[in-house]
Amino acid sequence: VATTRFQGENPELDGLYGDLAEADLQPLWLQERLLTAAPPQRSVPFCWKAKDVYPLAERARRLVPIERGGDRRVLMFSNPGMGGWCMATSTMSAAIQILGPGEIAPAHRHTAAAIRFILEGSGAVTLVDGDAIPMIPGDLVLTPNWTWHEHHNPTDERVLWLDVLDLALVIWLDAMFFEPGPDAPDPGPSPSGSTSERRFGRSGIVPVSGAGGGAYSPLFVYRWSDVDAVLDDILGGIAAHHASVRYSDPVRGGDVMPTLRCEAHRLRPGGAADFGRATGSAMWTVFTGEGVASVGDSTFEVEPGDTYVVPSWCPHRLETAAGADLFTVGDAPTFEALGLMRRRPPDAGERSER
Ligand SMILES: [Fe+2]
Repeated sequence: VATTRFQGENPELDGLYGDLAEADLQPLWLQERLLTAAPPQRSVPFCWKAKDVYPLAERARRLVPIERGGDRRVLMFSNPGMGGWCMATSTMSAAIQILGPGEIAPAHRHTAAAIRFILEGSGAVTLVDGDAIPMIPGDLVLTPNWTWHEHHNPTDERVLWLDVLDLALVIWLDAMFFEPGPDAPDPGPSPSGSTSERRFGRSGIVPVSGAGGGAYSPLFVYRWSDVDAVLDDILGGIAAHHASVRYSDPVRGGDVMPTLRCEAHRLRPGGAADFGRATGSAMWTVFTGEGVASVGDSTFEVEPGDTYVVPSWCPHRLETAAGADLFTVGDAPTFEALGLMRRRPPDAGERSER
């Protein structure tokens, strides 16, 4: 890329710029948007509405067989700030995936880690490294880095969920690997629960030996009924309008995966929460209720199934008249691991907490 090669005032300097460009060098003193006072956001605040996306997913279900979609029938959220790249933020992809009755999305694995948050339809099954996990709305399912995963819908209804992957990050890092898997026998009707839940899903008790202790949570599913009970209990004991929980690795503690952080938030009717701003990006999905989200200079009226993006360093505030439950997934663990996490609480002026 040639920089400003010809200033027109000093032929010798023009010659230097020309020779620099020929040598694939660029002078730092002419670069812009490198050492900025605050991060220039690549992605922009945006909201994908369920009332727009679900009908399009349904049309895709009727028109596009699974195999035409590269193993998955997925509508990817393409953030308008990302220049046409099918990424929701500068580190993450997000999408709505739909499976019709009897359909199977075949096994594969990849180095990008994924989460699913179930939005519609009960009784589909995701197999993670062969462990069959039945899914119902509100559940969080993990398919960590390089785990085999496939999706089966043995029900007679469509199922629909939110997918979020650390895909943009993995691609930026030149670390993407993908491998198709063997065809697996249909697991049949949903089992009562997965091995991962039976071993790691009981609060405060984990096996002394065996799986776990690795880079990601050995518990591959977190049930909404558990999240709901904890949120309820927290709000029952305080006068605040907002309660939140973080999904954590039952063995190591900490986030469920090294690159993604998942939380659930509940606002009482008439409640509000001001999150200030932080580096890193996040996707927010409304599970129940309604609200108004302010992200930077944008305002979104949100309903169940709507997903909006909070880009890095954008102020974020949420309020609700009727009350709301939201699920959120963000890239905070990556920023914390790299020493790049910076937070500014609301009303903190220019002071940042590091
Ligand atoms: Fe996948």
